[in-house]
Amino acid sequence: MPALINPSILSADFANLERDIRAISDADWVHVDVMDNHFVPNLTLGLPVVDRLRQVSPIPLDVHLMIEDADRWAPGYAELGVSSVTFHAEATRDPVGLARRIREIGSRASIGLKPGTAVEPYLELLPEFDQVLVMTVEPGFGGQSFMPDMMPKLRTLRAAAERHGIELWLQVDGGIALDTIGVAAEAGADTFVAGSAVYGAADVESAIAELRAAAAVHAH
Ligand code: DX5
Ligand code: ZN
Repeated sequence: MPALINPSILSADFANLERDIRAISDADWVHVDVMDNHFVPNLTLGLPVVDRLRQVSPIPLDVHLMIEDADRWAPGYAELGVSSVTFHAEATRDPVGLARRIREIGSRASIGLKPGTAVEPYLELLPEFDQVLVMTVEPGFGGQSFMPDMMPKLRTLRAAAERHGIELWLQVDGGIALDTIGVAAEAGADTFVAGSAVYGAADVESAIAELRAAAAVHAH
């Protein structure tokens, strides 16, 4: 699969989200970070804002829920018609049941893993998910440094997906920039979230094109 570049609007101007989503219309998807100040020590936006973003966005929404009690809240995001919903493994009592509900509603179901969370308990469950998000920073804030020691998780997940014979997307989120995207692609990632590397660039469109090219060089 070709690399997907999903800029994160966490680094956009929150007073101009529609304008800033239009500015990345040649990206693949737009990554929307939902934070509740409990799962992570930061607070961003919720259902009403995501609903409007979906209505105005020219590209699909990739919602990343960094919230407690995902079992209660995640289906509501799928019901808004967003294309993908990532909930965190650490915030659900029933990852398989939740993924099934999200898929039934019609969104892609994705499970996120914080840096301290092992992949092994999830390997047999992979056919239940469309994507695994491997966090390459501690979730909560943009602009942090990429953690290269997460790369073995990607290799393990890629090998397990091949064993299952499934087309599992592997997303990396945190510290993805021109100097790190190749490492992640080489380890098996195919979906790349980039906040500061896109919105912090002088030319947003070129930043997206350069990231896409750098990922493609190292893709499997
Ligand atoms: C962090 C968020 C990320 C964030 C990434 O908790 O999940 O999506 O926007 O920002 P950068 O690309 O700046 O590390
Ligand atoms: Zn994110």
